[in-house]
Amino acid sequence: MSDMCKNWSTWLKKTRFSYMNDVQIQQTLNWLMNIKNIVLDMADLKENQKIADFGCGSGLLGFGILERFQDRVELIFSDKFQDCLDECQNILKNSKIKNNVKFLKSDIYDIKLENNYLDRALTRSVLVHVLNKQQAFNELYRVLKPQGIYCAFEPIISQNTRYYELLIPDEASDYFDFKKAEMEFMSNPDDPLVNFSAQSLDLNMQEAGFSDVLVNVQKVTSKYSPTTEAIQNWFITPPAPNQKTMKERFMEYFDEKKVDNYIEEVKLALSKREIRVCSDTALIKAIK
Ligand SMILES: C[S@@+](CC[C@H](N)C(=O)[O-])C[C@H]1O[C@@H](n2cnc3c(N)ncnc32)[C@H](O)[C@@H]1O
Repeated sequence: MSDMCKNWSTWLKKTRFSYMNDVQIQQTLNWLMNIKNIVLDMADLKENQKIADFGCGSGLLGFGILERFQDRVELIFSDKFQDCLDECQNILKNSKIKNNVKFLKSDIYDIKLENNYLDRALTRSVLVHVLNKQQAFNELYRVLKPQGIYCAFEPIISQNTRYYELLIPDEASDYFDFKKAEMEFMSNPDDPLVNFSAQSLDLNMQEAGFSDVLVNVQKVTSKYSPTTEAIQNWFITPPAPNQKTMKERFMEYFDEKKVDNYIEEVKLALSKREIRVCSDTALIKAIK
């Protein structure tokens, strides 16, 4: 298991940017600000509401709400992990912004709030890290008031461009073995990152009892020329704390020498050209 990242606050501050240059980091931050605004606009937030940012991490959505409403809403920063709540608490302390904020350490499977408490429940890239999406939606439904709204943004990683799609078979000595392995682990039902689609999220929310379920999928395409260093980092950067890197995933099928050889072949092939990478994202809205 990679020891590059032990907790979520480190992953959010450092690890996720580790394979990017300054321009890409700035583009990613701009993209995150844009996503934040889209989710908050979609949620139809109003003064005096009780609002929670579940899986708040370093507070992307929560601080966006604070900027808009300060102490005119009751805002809950909630996360399963204390390091994330500590991070948000520190930011809040230094900001001196007027607020009516509570911190709630809760697993999304078992939210420490009474039934029908919230007007709004929001998540951004949280369900993608949760194995049992149905259980999470059941809890989100339980803690919302009737007519309460759930809004979210989630990446649909199972639809991402795969490495083997970026190569032509002649460019890797064991191309078909690696293609088979990648196809298998990218559809593993026991891996929270890939065990869902836009359709399954829609069905899960309906099953939980939500009405007017909207899952709006957008395809994001980027074209760029990766450096060998960036490609190396794709393979060794964990997608979440305590989650296996791509290299470790391939090493469940092949020995390290064979995986390292594949990585070198991918570097050689892709660093010579512009690549086109696609990923699906979902904007979600549902009403209790
Ligand atoms: C990719 S981060 C997103 C953080 C933040 N929402 C944002 O938009 O930057 C995923 C977050 O989900 C939280 N998380 C993961 N599993 C969780 C669970 N079972 N219950 C609650 N939070 C969870 C993590 O602690 C982390 O803060």
